[in-house]
Amino acid sequence: MEKVISLSKQRGFVFQSSEIYGGLKSAYDYGPLGVELKRNIMNEWWRSMVHEREDVIGIDASIIMHTKVWHASGHLAGFSDPLVDCLISKERFRADKAPRPVAGDELPIECADKGQAKNYVEAIQKRFNIELKRNGKILYGMKVIDDSTMGFFTDGGDKPTETFPYRGYVSPTFGSPFLSDERQFNLMFRSQIGPIDVLGDITSYVEKNKELDGKELRTGIEEIVKKSAVYLRPETAQAMFVQFLNCQQSMSMKVPFGIAQMGKSFRNEVTVEHFIFRSCEFEQMEMEFFVEPGTQKEWLDYWRDKRMEWWQGFANNPEKFRYRAHEKDELAHYADACYDIEYEYPWGFDELEGVASRTDYDLKKHAEHSGAKLSYFDQQKQDPETGKNGWRYTPYVIEPAAGVTRGLLVYLLDAYHEETVPNADGEDSSRVVMKFHPRLAPIKVAVLPLVKKEGLPEIAREMVSGFFKAGINARYDEQHSIGKRYRRHDEAGTPYCITIDGQTTEDGTVTIRDRDTMEQERISKDEALQVVQKRLIES
Ligand code: GAP
Repeated sequence: MEKVISLSKQRGFVFQSSEIYGGLKSAYDYGPLGVELKRNIMNEWWRSMVHEREDVIGIDASIIMHTKVWHASGHLAGFSDPLVDCLISKERFRADKAPRPVAGDELPIECADKGQAKNYVEAIQKRFNIELKRNGKILYGMKVIDDSTMGFFTDGGDKPTETFPYRGYVSPTFGSPFLSDERQFNLMFRSQIGPIDVLGDITSYVEKNKELDGKELRTGIEEIVKKSAVYLRPETAQAMFVQFLNCQQSMSMKVPFGIAQMGKSFRNEVTVEHFIFRSCEFEQMEMEFFVEPGTQKEWLDYWRDKRMEWWQGFANNPEKFRYRAHEKDELAHYADACYDIEYEYPWGFDELEGVASRTDYDLKKHAEHSGAKLSYFDQQKQDPETGKNGWRYTPYVIEPAAGVTRGLLVYLLDAYHEETVPNADGEDSSRVVMKFHPRLAPIKVAVLPLVKKEGLPEIAREMVSGFFKAGINARYDEQHSIGKRYRRHDEAGTPYCITIDGQTTEDGTVTIRDRDTMEQERISKDEALQVVQKRLIES
């Protein structure tokens, strides 16, 4: 990882944001080679997800959306309320709305089914070292001792074998007392829309209400801020739900079909880590695939496999990718199943993309909040309830959601190779080579005049302009010895180097060097473009 970070800076892939001012934690800039690599990843994703498919269309929505979108999606639910997470079920809820058992009360945990109950017993044992008793889907053993203490009581015992801090309430769905600290939930970046500075209104409100206590002031200020508050999107997905009808109708799409989008997302992450793996500003490539209710399982498997194939198709080490099915207790509240596509990073396997079965949750929520009819009418199908021809339903959704910048990290790690190779004198020398898939490589071909005279630069420049006209990113490079130039392009991951030498002026041939094998071949200079085009297509 350290070597990749260092090479990223030296070769212009990734720089720390605002480095000359000491850097901004968790923000990164993509340099001259990084921006090309990023665009190539995104272009390949768009090609495979949109251009090559009849059943997927694309959109490019604004980053700032109507604030009601975030109310409906649940992202804003706890923005100004203290939120708590159940440490076992991951349920997130408002502390002030939670049930409050008192001293002497039992604390039974009611699970959704027996399977979940079994999983929770294991999770609680692992985390708290106590084994709750299970009766069907209910777990027993915990009891409130006083306002701030709860205990684990084994069968028939009147003294607790273990005590734990009690928060005074339990989670609303399961009744779990195993809870995180209360937190102000501030996932989204907030800004204000409109030219009037909200600080002026806040100042006069505070001046006029000096008698209010802290909590009352906060409520008043929140009301002022709310009027012009807008949020930077924390995922690109919501625009696809909100524009479901417009997209479906304008393009006459029939279910199953998908809406895809790539773009920036922003999250106030609690932990930012591992270089660009988790940052506050990042890019996503997401697709919402709308399907008939009941078919979600087969489509989930389909997209899981498609996406895995895509990632592996550009990798040197496909064995470093794997799936991981989410356990029931780690599923998001809107999902009925989910797979993570994971990569083996230097710190172990971790998420690269999530492929989730999001049910009909989002469309229903947006329909409920907006009043729009976000449903689909299939004339060819019978309504399963009435048996009549024609079926109106809310589609279920399968969502492959990938991180662009996380993908870029994966391909940087995958490409990095150190090799011992013979130098010009036949002696061992080491080289660093970035073995990017040719279609992802930032520069596809470097054109190198052996010397800066005898008409060689002119031939090289003409060739470069031919590559540009064909849409191939080429680079003219005349600095330093030819050996150094080859090494430089090995580090940049340039798959082909074409050298213009004395023989070119005699017989019109050039050499083309392959980055990985380092083999050189003489070809006609007039065929160079076709040769590179063919290799890129076949790669
Ligand atoms: N719409 C669903 C969604 O956003 P997610 O698992 O939170 O799901 C999808 O995000 C992908 O976006 C992740 O698999 C990851 O690749 C990327 N991602 C999420 N948070 C990120 C962050 N803070 N920094 C970089 N990439 C991130």
